[in-house]
Amino acid sequence: MSNPKINPFRHEFFLGYINQVFPQFVKVHFPSSVLLNGFTHYGEEFNGGIVGTFVIVEGHKYGFLGRITELALPESERLSLNERAFQTSDFHPTGKIEILLSFDLYNPFKVKKGLTAYPNIGAKVFVSSGELVQKYMSRFGVKEGEISNPEKLGCLVSNPSTAVKVNLQSIFGRHCAVVGTTGGGKSYTVSRLIESLISTGNKAILIDATGEYNGKYDGVESIEIGDGTHVFHYSQLTIDDLFYLFRPSSKVQVPKLMEAIRSLKIVELNKGNSIHKIVNVNGNEQTVITKIEKGVIKKAGSDKRPYEEFYYKNISNIEDGYSNFNIERLTFQITEESVWDTAKATINGIKNTTVNERWGDRNDGDVSHCISLISRINNIVSTSIYQNIFGFKKQYDENDISKVIDNFIKGDNCLLRLNFGNIPFDFQIREILANAIGKFMLNKARDGQFKSTPVVLFIDEAHQFLNKTVKDEYFDVKPLDSFDSIAKECRKHGLFLCIATQMPRDIPQGTLSQMGTFIVHRLINYNDKEAISSACSSANKNTLDFLPILGEGEAILTGVDFPMPIIMKFDEPDNKPNSGTPSLNNK
Ligand SMILES: Nc1ncnc2c1ncn2[C@@H]1O[C@H](COP(=O)(O)OP(=O)(O)OP(=O)(O)O)[C@@H](O)[C@H]1O
Ligand SMILES: [Mg+2]
Repeated sequence: MSNPKINPFRHEFFLGYINQVFPQFVKVHFPSSVLLNGFTHYGEEFNGGIVGTFVIVEGHKYGFLGRITELALPESERLSLNERAFQTSDFHPTGKIEILLSFDLYNPFKVKKGLTAYPNIGAKVFVSSGELVQKYMSRFGVKEGEISNPEKLGCLVSNPSTAVKVNLQSIFGRHCAVVGTTGGGKSYTVSRLIESLISTGNKAILIDATGEYNGKYDGVESIEIGDGTHVFHYSQLTIDDLFYLFRPSSKVQVPKLMEAIRSLKIVELNKGNSIHKIVNVNGNEQTVITKIEKGVIKKAGSDKRPYEEFYYKNISNIEDGYSNFNIERLTFQITEESVWDTAKATINGIKNTTVNERWGDRNDGDVSHCISLISRINNIVSTSIYQNIFGFKKQYDENDISKVIDNFIKGDNCLLRLNFGNIPFDFQIREILANAIGKFMLNKARDGQFKSTPVVLFIDEAHQFLNKTVKDEYFDVKPLDSFDSIAKECRKHGLFLCIATQMPRDIPQGTLSQMGTFIVHRLINYNDKEAISSACSSANKNTLDFLPILGEGEAILTGVDFPMPIIMKFDEPDNKPNSGTPSLNNK
């Protein structure tokens, strides 16, 4: 080993001997309590043996990096504890060490995940230098042959002079969850992560639920949503999204709404003109017509055949799943859909003969079933809050959020911030909009658009948007699950999620289990801790014991690409989220 400081087994660092080995941890015996004192070596400060200190255990073929999690005195010495005995090192403390990773003795930076071997009884234990721990951390997630390009995110809690530098790929490469109770430092951490991403030339999109990320990030484009300038035009919504908004009841209203949408898409494709078709009736050519007037198909009394022929010719456009039709005509069209399926006519003198080729008259029963749907749609389309979000009375234009996202992906900006801060909480409008944006991104990802420029999608306060369902008046529940789908399938497409939330248990299990990296700030609630410990198997349960005592900005960083959990304090971001607690008066 060329660098003498990197030799992990120096006698100056000696602490004690292993005297008990368990599958999860080992116990160490310190021959003298003096060995636990801190010391300085080549100008670097060492903690000595205190809880949280990193140690190196010498093995046969392997070495081990561990962390002291417990210190105690043997039963027999506990009662004779006094000042003098301490100074003369008459005590022989024992400690519990959590083994974090093992490494090859001849190639110390070749880290093995999991334990392939155990230390022997009598193996020597040394204090680890911060530099060594740092070197390990910066190689996490780097595959053999790849160059490691770690970013500094913060420092170790146990040893603030040791910087934590990690590869961004190992944090974001498999989706990332930032969790913790309020005030733990999630938003600060998110801001720090964004800064390090964009400083390395990567792209991020941020759904800013509260408007707190109003700092001057490099290459940021900030879009305000809610005042009507930037809308997510309804024509970009999927039919499912429209169903979330309009909530048709399942029996009569769903098929009528579906039919009406189909009809309006036909109107759009035929530019509002009636559809003509020449047919042969008893040897005579005859023109039959599906009438279109004022942007709606007049079904009552119209011929079906032109409609059907047009539909099958254009089926892929009509059934593309998008809402590209004139929504202001929707309620009129629903009324037009409420007709009898066949017409009655007098043919050859016989009254009331059924004519299958034509729709019959208005069916008032159907109309009355659809009244509640019609009034709901009218209400939504004419409410200004909805108009300002979905542009119901506007044309699709360049300011559209979908266009903004498109241009952002192609352009030079690094961060696109979508400010949801001014969107009201009424009518589940935030969830539906976030879900629609998620779905838009999902489709782009499936289309391969992020393959060459990966994008990290940040969602702070994710509990507002995830695990949501839309309930209709008949208690039909529809999940808003586009982020779930992103979590499940988009890693390979280059679209990564980074979600921050106070309540991990509010995130669907499916999404949580797809998270490869966890940044866990202070967490007190038992259920939340359970949600985390069940989702991240690699986090050693012992490390999670540190969760309730973490300070502001301190967090446990763990994940698939991290052979060991890191207890670190994140650096303060340059752009601080504006979320300070208002102070109470002290008069
Ligand atoms: N890395 C840090 N270094 C120093 N102070 C920090 C750090 N992170 C957070 N803080 C302090 O903690 C406060 C709360 O942080 P932050 O707003 O990020 O919490 P949060 O977890 O997002 O809370 P909430 O759930 O309420 O949004 C900050 O105002 C700041 O004073
Ligand atoms: Mg926050």
